[in-house]
Amino acid sequence: MHPEQIELNGHRFRRFLTRQQIAAIVERLAQQLRADYAGITPVCLIVLKGAFVFAADLLRAAGIPCRVETVRARSYGTAMHSSGRVEIQPPELPLAGADVLLIEDIVDSGLTLRELLGFLRRQQPASLRIVALLAKPSARELQPQPDYIGLEIPPLFVVGYGMDYAEHGRYLPDIYALEEPEQGNPARERTSFAVVDPSRTAE
Ligand code: IMP
Repeated sequence: MHPEQIELNGHRFRRFLTRQQIAAIVERLAQQLRADYAGITPVCLIVLKGAFVFAADLLRAAGIPCRVETVRARSYGTAMHSSGRVEIQPPELPLAGADVLLIEDIVDSGLTLRELLGFLRRQQPASLRIVALLAKPSARELQPQPDYIGLEIPPLFVVGYGMDYAEHGRYLPDIYALEEPEQGNPARERTSFAVVDPSRTAE
């Protein structure tokens, strides 16, 4: 069953990208990675939780020999309101001297990415690239830009394919966009951000 419309937590979402469209985007990104990482064994750093489905498909499609590590970055709270900060749970693998490929689900304001990049640069990797499945228009201002973007989308709030609304909807194979934005768009209700980087507080 692949419904056009779903309801999550009392909000209506409409299908925005089918699994076939997502697979085509992932395959295109995989081809680019195969070309760019020929002869290199990167550390593929999956940003949890949202990127776990995308990363699983991307890494298998690309077929690049790599090491896999995760980093936890949390910028949304569990309800419609932001947690108010970006929390980074550092990876266990040492990244110094590694060719790091950061795998992100979606870039919105870019705050999460900016904080992650700051954290990662302090680990002194040999190289650092970013692949994001989706990017919203607000991400266009970002410096640096992700090296690989699957699809630029309008400023919608989306769920599915690993992405959630208050932890709902990550399991959905298709991507859905929130309808009824006037009734509360979780993406618009986020407030200010502060950074919690445990490796820094330990310094
Ligand atoms: P940013 O810090 O505003 O760029 O937001 C990035 C993070 O927020 C992503 O890694 C997602 O976890 C989450 N996020 C941003 N936009 C959406 C969305 O539309 N749906 C679900 N999660 C989102």
